[in-house]
Amino acid sequence: MGIQISPSILSADFADLRTAAESVASADWLHVDVMDNHFVPNLTIGVPVVESLAKVASQPLDCHLMIEDPDRWAPAYVEAGAGSVTFHVEACRAPVRLARELRAQQARAGMALKPATAIEPYGDLLAELDMVLIMTVEPGFAGQRFLEFCLSKIARTRRLLDKTGADIWLQLDGGISADTIERCAEAGADVFVAGSAVFGADNPDAVVTHLRSLAEKAQPTSR
Ligand code: DX5
Ligand code: ZN
Repeated sequence: MGIQISPSILSADFADLRTAAESVASADWLHVDVMDNHFVPNLTIGVPVVESLAKVASQPLDCHLMIEDPDRWAPAYVEAGAGSVTFHVEACRAPVRLARELRAQQARAGMALKPATAIEPYGDLLAELDMVLIMTVEPGFAGQRFLEFCLSKIARTRRLLDKTGADIWLQLDGGISADTIERCAEAGADVFVAGSAVFGADNPDAVVTHLRSLAEKAQPTSR
């Protein structure tokens, strides 16, 4: 898979998500930030909104669950129409069991790590996943500044993913923009979430196209 862009609707108009989806027609996914006010200090979208959005969006939904007890709740997001569901490993009791359950439902299974969480303890279970999400800000809010110290974890994660021999995507979320995406692609990431950079622009779809082309040019040729 090449470079993919997943605009985060957290920075869109929640009163008009259909228009938000249409405004990023060339996006590969729509990133949906689910927050429960426990795992993160913010409250956003739940299952009913995902269900409605799935019916009107042409892009598949990439649900990022920033919630406690994803073991209990994640499968409901697949039932609501998500194509990919990402749970936080810090909140998950049984990541292998949950990933298998999501895949059995025919969805892609993603596992997310906060900035301070190391990838190394999870090296052996990576083949159970379709995607690893490395947070490049503390989860909870759009518009934060990219944390540069995450770059070495991105490179280390890419090496571990390559070792599996499987096509496991490496997604980044937080502070991704035209200023940061190139060094992230160079380090081995291939799926980029962008909220404020896309929906804060006059022409969101032009930003999607621009970000993708910057990342494609920066991506190591060996991949
Ligand atoms: C933050 C969310 C992100 C957020 C990114 O916790 O997970 O998806 O929308 O927003 P930007 O791109 O503005 O950092
Ligand atoms: Zn997110």
